[in-house]
Amino acid sequence: LSKESQQVLSAHEWLTKLYHHLIRYTKDGKVGLDYLQERGITNEAIDTFQLGYAPNTKDFTATFLQKKGFHQQMLVKYGVLTRGQDDSVTDRFRGRVIFPIRNHLGRTVAFGARAMEGQEPKYLNSPESDMFQKGKMLYNFDLAKKYIRKQNEVVVFEGYMDVITAFQSGVQNVVATMGTAITEVQAKLLRRYAETVVICYDGDNAGVEATYKAAKLLQEIGCQVKIASLKDNLDPDSYINRFGGEAFKREVIGASKTFMSFYMQYLKKDFNLSLEGDRLQYLEEVLKEIANLDSSVEREFYVKELSTEYNISMESLLGEIEQHRQKLG
Ligand code: CTP
Ligand code: MN
Ligand code: MN
Ligand code: MN
Ligand code: MN
Repeated sequence: LSKESQQVLSAHEWLTKLYHHLIRYTKDGKVGLDYLQERGITNEAIDTFQLGYAPNTKDFTATFLQKKGFHQQMLVKYGVLTRGQDDSVTDRFRGRVIFPIRNHLGRTVAFGARAMEGQEPKYLNSPESDMFQKGKMLYNFDLAKKYIRKQNEVVVFEGYMDVITAFQSGVQNVVATMGTAITEVQAKLLRRYAETVVICYDGDNAGVEATYKAAKLLQEIGCQVKIASLKDNLDPDSYINRFGGEAFKREVIGASKTFMSFYMQYLKKDFNLSLEGDRLQYLEEVLKEIANLDSSVEREFYVKELSTEYNISMESLLGEIEQHRQKLG
Protein backbone atom coordinates (compact mmCIF):
# COMPACT_ATOMS: atom_id res chain seq x y z
CA LEU A 1 0.00 0.00 0.00
CA SER A 2 1.20 3.49 -0.80
CA LYS A 3 1.68 5.95 2.00
CA GLU A 4 -1.38 7.87 0.86
CA SER A 5 -3.53 4.74 0.82
CA GLN A 6 -2.49 3.94 4.36
CA GLN A 7 -3.38 7.48 5.40
CA VAL A 8 -6.76 7.25 3.71
CA LEU A 9 -7.59 3.95 5.37
CA SER A 10 -6.50 5.28 8.72
CA ALA A 11 -8.63 8.42 8.38
CA HIS A 12 -11.65 6.31 7.39
CA GLU A 13 -11.09 4.04 10.34
CA TRP A 14 -10.95 6.95 12.78
CA LEU A 15 -14.11 8.41 11.33
CA THR A 16 -15.95 5.09 11.37
CA LYS A 17 -15.19 4.77 15.07
CA LEU A 18 -15.99 8.39 15.83
CA TYR A 19 -19.34 8.48 14.03
CA HIS A 20 -20.27 5.11 15.51
CA HIS A 21 -19.43 6.23 19.02
CA LEU A 22 -21.50 9.38 18.56
CA ILE A 23 -24.61 7.53 17.43
CA ARG A 24 -24.40 4.88 20.12
CA TYR A 25 -23.41 6.82 23.17
CA THR A 26 -23.91 10.58 22.83
CA LYS A 27 -26.65 13.17 22.85
CA ASP A 28 -25.30 14.68 19.63
CA GLY A 29 -25.92 11.40 17.85
CA LYS A 30 -29.38 10.78 19.21
CA VAL A 31 -31.25 12.02 16.13
CA GLY A 32 -29.38 9.41 14.12
CA LEU A 33 -30.09 6.68 16.64
CA ASP A 34 -33.78 7.60 16.76
CA TYR A 35 -33.90 7.48 12.99
CA LEU A 36 -32.41 3.98 12.78
CA GLN A 37 -34.52 2.67 15.66
CA GLU A 38 -37.60 4.07 13.96
CA ARG A 39 -36.64 1.97 10.97
CA GLY A 40 -36.32 -1.15 13.11
CA ILE A 41 -32.54 -1.39 13.20
CA THR A 42 -31.25 -3.00 16.41
CA ASN A 43 -28.25 -1.80 18.43
CA GLU A 44 -26.58 -5.09 17.61
CA ALA A 45 -26.90 -4.36 13.89
CA ILE A 46 -25.69 -0.81 14.44
CA ASP A 47 -22.58 -2.34 16.01
CA THR A 48 -22.15 -5.05 13.39
CA PHE A 49 -22.33 -2.57 10.53
CA GLN A 50 -20.59 0.19 12.47
CA LEU A 51 -23.35 2.61 11.58
CA GLY A 52 -22.85 6.15 12.73
CA TYR A 53 -23.90 9.76 12.72
CA ALA A 54 -21.97 12.78 11.46
CA PRO A 55 -22.83 15.84 13.56
CA ASN A 56 -24.53 18.72 11.84
CA THR A 57 -21.68 21.16 12.23
CA LYS A 58 -19.38 22.69 9.69
CA ASP A 59 -16.03 21.56 10.95
CA PHE A 60 -16.38 18.85 13.59
CA THR A 61 -14.86 16.22 11.30
CA ALA A 62 -12.28 18.59 9.86
CA THR A 63 -11.06 19.59 13.31
CA PHE A 64 -11.00 16.03 14.58
CA LEU A 65 -8.92 14.78 11.67
CA GLN A 66 -6.66 17.80 11.67
CA LYS A 67 -5.78 17.12 15.30
CA LYS A 68 -4.82 13.59 14.27
CA GLY A 69 -2.46 15.07 11.71
CA PHE A 70 -4.25 14.19 8.47
CA HIS A 71 -3.73 16.43 5.46
CA GLN A 72 -6.70 18.51 4.48
CA GLN A 73 -5.97 18.16 0.79
CA MET A 74 -6.16 14.37 1.00
CA LEU A 75 -9.42 14.50 2.94
CA VAL A 76 -10.93 16.73 0.27
CA LYS A 77 -9.70 14.43 -2.50
CA TYR A 78 -11.37 11.41 -0.89
CA GLY A 79 -14.56 13.31 -0.24
CA VAL A 80 -14.66 13.42 3.52
CA LEU A 81 -14.46 17.20 3.43
CA THR A 82 -15.70 19.72 0.88
CA ARG A 83 -13.75 22.79 -0.11
CA GLY A 84 -15.96 25.85 -0.45
CA GLN A 85 -15.48 28.87 -2.73
CA ASP A 86 -13.72 30.84 -0.03
CA ASP A 87 -11.26 27.93 0.33
CA SER A 88 -12.59 26.93 3.74
CA VAL A 89 -13.42 23.26 4.23
CA THR A 90 -16.63 21.77 5.62
CA ASP A 91 -17.75 18.30 6.70
CA ARG A 92 -19.28 16.68 3.65
CA PHE A 93 -21.52 14.21 5.46
CA ARG A 94 -22.77 16.49 8.20
CA GLY A 95 -26.19 15.78 9.63
CA ARG A 96 -26.41 12.38 8.01
CA VAL A 97 -26.53 8.74 9.13
CA ILE A 98 -23.29 7.05 8.15
CA PHE A 99 -22.94 3.65 6.47
CA PRO A 100 -19.27 2.69 6.33
CA ILE A 101 -18.54 0.83 3.09
CA ARG A 102 -16.06 -1.94 3.83
CA ASN A 103 -13.82 -3.73 1.36
CA HIS A 104 -13.45 -7.53 1.34
CA LEU A 105 -11.00 -7.27 4.23
CA GLY A 106 -13.48 -5.34 6.34
CA ARG A 107 -11.71 -2.00 6.10
CA THR A 108 -13.74 1.13 5.51
CA VAL A 109 -12.87 2.56 2.08
CA ALA A 110 -15.83 4.89 1.66
CA PHE A 111 -19.02 6.12 3.28
CA GLY A 112 -22.63 6.18 2.27
CA ALA A 113 -24.45 8.93 4.14
CA ARG A 114 -28.21 9.10 4.35
CA ALA A 115 -30.22 12.27 4.80
CA MET A 116 -32.92 11.98 7.42
CA GLU A 117 -35.33 14.73 6.50
CA GLY A 118 -35.78 14.38 2.79
CA GLN A 119 -32.74 16.39 1.70
CA GLU A 120 -31.24 15.59 -1.68
CA PRO A 121 -29.47 13.49 -2.50
CA LYS A 122 -30.96 10.83 -0.27
CA TYR A 123 -27.61 9.10 -0.13
CA LEU A 124 -24.38 11.00 -0.47
CA ASN A 125 -21.50 8.62 -1.15
CA SER A 126 -17.76 9.06 -1.16
CA PRO A 127 -16.54 9.85 -4.65
CA GLU A 128 -14.86 7.20 -6.78
CA SER A 129 -11.16 6.93 -6.12
CA ASP A 130 -8.32 4.45 -6.25
CA MET A 131 -9.66 3.18 -2.91
CA PHE A 132 -13.31 2.98 -3.85
CA GLN A 133 -14.88 1.97 -7.11
CA LYS A 134 -18.53 1.23 -6.57
CA GLY A 135 -18.78 -1.14 -9.53
CA LYS A 136 -15.90 -3.25 -8.32
CA MET A 137 -17.16 -4.12 -4.92
CA LEU A 138 -20.26 -5.30 -3.14
CA TYR A 139 -21.59 -3.86 0.07
CA ASN A 140 -21.25 -6.35 2.95
CA PHE A 141 -19.20 -8.89 1.01
CA ASP A 142 -16.73 -9.22 3.89
CA LEU A 143 -19.36 -10.33 6.41
CA ALA A 144 -21.50 -12.30 3.97
CA LYS A 145 -18.86 -14.40 2.27
CA LYS A 146 -18.73 -17.24 4.77
CA TYR A 147 -22.52 -17.62 4.57
CA ILE A 148 -22.42 -17.39 0.80
CA ARG A 149 -19.83 -20.19 0.63
CA LYS A 150 -21.72 -22.38 3.07
CA GLN A 151 -25.04 -22.02 1.28
CA ASN A 152 -23.53 -21.91 -2.20
CA GLU A 153 -25.99 -19.11 -2.80
CA VAL A 154 -25.96 -15.34 -2.55
CA VAL A 155 -28.83 -12.87 -2.45
CA VAL A 156 -28.18 -9.56 -4.19
CA PHE A 157 -30.00 -6.42 -3.10
CA GLU A 158 -29.88 -2.81 -4.23
CA GLY A 159 -29.22 -1.04 -0.99
CA TYR A 160 -27.54 -0.70 2.37
CA MET A 161 -30.76 -0.91 4.36
CA ASP A 162 -31.88 -4.07 2.53
CA VAL A 163 -28.66 -5.79 3.55
CA ILE A 164 -28.78 -4.64 7.16
CA THR A 165 -32.43 -5.48 7.72
CA ALA A 166 -32.07 -8.92 6.13
CA PHE A 167 -28.85 -9.66 8.01
CA GLN A 168 -30.30 -8.79 11.41
CA SER A 169 -33.34 -10.95 10.74
CA GLY A 170 -31.22 -13.99 9.98
CA VAL A 171 -30.69 -13.89 6.21
CA GLN A 172 -26.95 -13.42 6.11
CA ASN A 173 -25.74 -14.44 2.66
CA VAL A 174 -26.61 -10.97 1.41
CA VAL A 175 -24.80 -8.18 -0.45
CA ALA A 176 -25.83 -5.01 -2.26
CA THR A 177 -24.76 -3.50 -5.57
CA MET A 178 -25.35 -0.01 -4.08
CA GLY A 179 -27.76 1.01 -6.80
CA THR A 180 -29.38 -0.99 -9.52
CA ALA A 181 -26.80 -1.84 -12.16
CA ILE A 182 -24.59 -4.87 -11.60
CA THR A 183 -21.21 -4.87 -13.31
CA GLU A 184 -19.20 -7.71 -14.78
CA VAL A 185 -16.61 -7.40 -12.02
CA GLN A 186 -19.29 -7.78 -9.35
CA ALA A 187 -20.89 -10.68 -11.20
CA LYS A 188 -17.58 -12.54 -11.43
CA LEU A 189 -16.87 -11.95 -7.78
CA LEU A 190 -20.19 -13.57 -6.91
CA ARG A 191 -19.57 -16.48 -9.26
CA ARG A 192 -16.37 -17.31 -7.44
CA TYR A 193 -18.21 -17.81 -4.16
CA ALA A 194 -21.54 -19.31 -5.13
CA GLU A 195 -23.25 -21.20 -7.90
CA THR A 196 -26.67 -19.67 -7.35
CA VAL A 197 -27.36 -15.95 -7.36
CA VAL A 198 -30.77 -14.74 -6.23
CA ILE A 199 -31.51 -11.27 -7.55
CA CYS A 200 -33.80 -9.42 -5.19
CA TYR A 201 -34.12 -5.86 -6.39
CA ASP A 202 -36.82 -3.35 -5.56
CA GLY A 203 -40.29 -3.95 -6.92
CA ASP A 204 -40.39 -0.63 -8.76
CA ASN A 205 -39.78 -0.13 -12.49
CA ALA A 206 -36.10 0.66 -12.15
CA GLY A 207 -35.67 -2.48 -10.08
CA VAL A 208 -37.42 -4.71 -12.59
CA GLU A 209 -35.43 -3.34 -15.53
CA ALA A 210 -32.20 -3.79 -13.61
CA THR A 211 -33.22 -7.33 -12.68
CA TYR A 212 -33.46 -8.26 -16.33
CA LYS A 213 -30.04 -6.83 -17.12
CA ALA A 214 -28.41 -8.39 -14.07
CA ALA A 215 -29.95 -11.78 -14.80
CA LYS A 216 -28.64 -11.71 -18.38
CA LEU A 217 -25.15 -10.82 -17.27
CA LEU A 218 -25.02 -13.32 -14.43
CA GLN A 219 -26.26 -16.09 -16.66
CA GLU A 220 -23.68 -15.28 -19.30
CA ILE A 221 -20.87 -15.77 -16.84
CA GLY A 222 -22.26 -19.09 -15.70
CA CYS A 223 -24.32 -18.38 -12.60
CA GLN A 224 -27.50 -20.22 -11.77
CA VAL A 225 -29.85 -17.26 -11.62
CA LYS A 226 -32.99 -17.04 -9.54
CA ILE A 227 -35.26 -14.06 -9.28
CA ALA A 228 -37.09 -13.04 -6.16
CA SER A 229 -39.80 -10.51 -6.96
CA LEU A 230 -41.40 -8.09 -4.58
CA LYS A 231 -44.95 -6.93 -4.98
CA ASP A 232 -46.48 -3.50 -4.50
CA ASN A 233 -43.31 -1.50 -5.12
CA LEU A 234 -41.85 -2.86 -1.90
CA ASP A 235 -38.15 -3.24 -1.38
CA PRO A 236 -36.56 -6.00 0.73
CA ASP A 237 -36.15 -3.69 3.70
CA SER A 238 -39.76 -2.54 3.72
CA TYR A 239 -40.99 -6.08 3.06
CA ILE A 240 -39.11 -7.48 6.06
CA ASN A 241 -40.30 -4.64 8.25
CA ARG A 242 -43.87 -5.31 7.26
CA PHE A 243 -43.97 -9.11 7.12
CA GLY A 244 -40.88 -10.31 9.00
CA GLY A 245 -37.74 -12.23 8.17
CA GLU A 246 -39.39 -15.66 8.14
CA ALA A 247 -41.95 -14.57 5.58
CA PHE A 248 -39.17 -13.06 3.54
CA LYS A 249 -37.25 -16.36 3.53
CA ARG A 250 -40.30 -18.42 2.73
CA GLU A 251 -42.32 -16.26 0.41
CA VAL A 252 -39.72 -14.15 -1.35
CA ILE A 253 -36.43 -16.06 -1.44
CA GLY A 254 -38.18 -19.42 -1.26
CA ALA A 255 -40.54 -18.51 -4.07
CA SER A 256 -37.89 -17.14 -6.39
CA LYS A 257 -38.34 -17.99 -10.04
CA THR A 258 -36.07 -19.09 -12.86
CA PHE A 259 -34.89 -16.50 -15.32
CA MET A 260 -37.18 -17.89 -18.01
CA SER A 261 -40.22 -17.68 -15.82
CA PHE A 262 -39.37 -14.10 -14.95
CA TYR A 263 -38.64 -13.28 -18.58
CA MET A 264 -41.96 -14.64 -19.83
CA GLN A 265 -43.69 -12.25 -17.47
CA TYR A 266 -41.28 -9.36 -17.99
CA LEU A 267 -41.59 -9.41 -21.77
CA LYS A 268 -45.34 -8.92 -21.62
CA LYS A 269 -44.84 -5.26 -20.87
CA ASP A 270 -43.80 -4.69 -24.50
CA PHE A 271 -46.98 -6.14 -25.95
CA ASN A 272 -50.72 -5.80 -25.88
CA LEU A 273 -51.59 -9.45 -25.59
CA SER A 274 -55.22 -8.94 -26.45
CA LEU A 275 -54.08 -8.28 -30.02
CA GLU A 276 -53.41 -11.27 -32.21
CA GLY A 277 -50.34 -9.76 -33.86
CA ASP A 278 -48.78 -8.86 -30.53
CA ARG A 279 -49.47 -12.31 -29.17
CA LEU A 280 -47.62 -13.90 -32.08
CA GLN A 281 -44.68 -11.54 -31.71
CA TYR A 282 -44.55 -12.18 -28.01
CA LEU A 283 -44.50 -15.93 -28.60
CA GLU A 284 -41.77 -15.54 -31.19
CA GLU A 285 -39.58 -13.64 -28.71
CA VAL A 286 -40.16 -16.09 -25.90
CA LEU A 287 -39.49 -19.10 -28.15
CA LYS A 288 -36.19 -17.54 -29.22
CA GLU A 289 -35.16 -17.31 -25.60
CA ILE A 290 -36.34 -20.82 -24.78
CA ALA A 291 -34.26 -22.10 -27.69
CA ASN A 292 -31.17 -20.97 -25.78
CA LEU A 293 -31.83 -23.38 -22.93
CA ASP A 294 -29.48 -26.35 -22.95
CA SER A 295 -31.81 -28.80 -21.29
CA SER A 296 -34.57 -30.33 -23.40
CA VAL A 297 -36.57 -30.95 -20.24
CA GLU A 298 -36.48 -27.27 -19.41
CA ARG A 299 -37.39 -26.30 -22.96
CA GLU A 300 -40.35 -28.61 -22.91
CA PHE A 301 -41.41 -27.37 -19.49
CA TYR A 302 -41.87 -23.79 -20.71
CA VAL A 303 -43.26 -24.80 -24.06
CA LYS A 304 -45.93 -26.70 -22.24
CA GLU A 305 -46.91 -23.58 -20.33
CA LEU A 306 -47.13 -21.59 -23.55
CA SER A 307 -49.05 -24.33 -25.28
CA THR A 308 -51.68 -24.24 -22.58
CA GLU A 309 -51.83 -20.49 -22.22
CA TYR A 310 -52.03 -19.69 -25.94
CA ASN A 311 -53.71 -22.84 -27.13
CA ILE A 312 -51.06 -23.82 -29.66
CA SER A 313 -49.85 -27.38 -30.10
CA MET A 314 -46.62 -28.51 -28.46
CA GLU A 315 -45.42 -29.87 -31.82
CA SER A 316 -45.60 -26.57 -33.61
CA LEU A 317 -43.98 -24.66 -30.73
CA LEU A 318 -41.18 -27.22 -30.41
CA GLY A 319 -40.76 -27.17 -34.19
CA GLU A 320 -40.20 -23.43 -34.08
CA ILE A 321 -37.66 -23.89 -31.32
CA GLU A 322 -35.79 -26.52 -33.35
CA GLN A 323 -35.43 -24.04 -36.20
CA HIS A 324 -33.92 -21.49 -33.84
CA ARG A 325 -31.57 -24.08 -32.37
CA GLN A 326 -30.30 -25.00 -35.80
CA LYS A 327 -29.43 -21.37 -36.38
CA LEU A 328 -27.57 -21.35 -33.05
CA GLY A 329 -25.55 -24.34 -34.28
N1 CTP B 1 -28.10 5.04 -3.93
C1 CTP B 1 -27.10 6.01 -3.94
N2 CTP B 1 -27.39 7.32 -4.09
C2 CTP B 1 -28.69 7.72 -4.19
C3 CTP B 1 -29.72 6.79 -4.18
C4 CTP B 1 -29.40 5.44 -4.04
O1 CTP B 1 -25.93 5.64 -3.83
N3 CTP B 1 -28.96 9.02 -4.29
C5 CTP B 1 -27.74 3.64 -3.75
C6 CTP B 1 -27.63 3.30 -2.28
O2 CTP B 1 -26.63 2.32 -2.11
C7 CTP B 1 -29.00 2.75 -1.98
C8 CTP B 1 -29.29 1.99 -3.25
O3 CTP B 1 -28.72 2.78 -4.27
O4 CTP B 1 -28.99 1.93 -0.83
C9 CTP B 1 -30.76 1.73 -3.54
O5 CTP B 1 -31.46 2.95 -3.66
P1 CTP B 1 -32.94 3.12 -3.10
O6 CTP B 1 -33.73 1.91 -3.36
O7 CTP B 1 -33.44 4.41 -3.60
O8 CTP B 1 -32.66 3.33 -1.56
P2 CTP B 1 -32.89 2.32 -0.34
O9 CTP B 1 -31.70 1.40 -0.28
O10 CTP B 1 -34.22 1.71 -0.39
O11 CTP B 1 -32.74 3.31 0.88
P3 CTP B 1 -33.81 3.74 1.97
O12 CTP B 1 -34.52 2.52 2.41
O13 CTP B 1 -32.96 4.33 3.05
O14 CTP B 1 -34.69 4.75 1.34
MN1 MN C 1 -34.47 1.33 -5.51
MN1 MN D 1 -34.85 0.52 -2.10
MN1 MN E 1 -35.56 1.09 1.21
MN1 MN F 1 -38.87 -17.94 -35.41
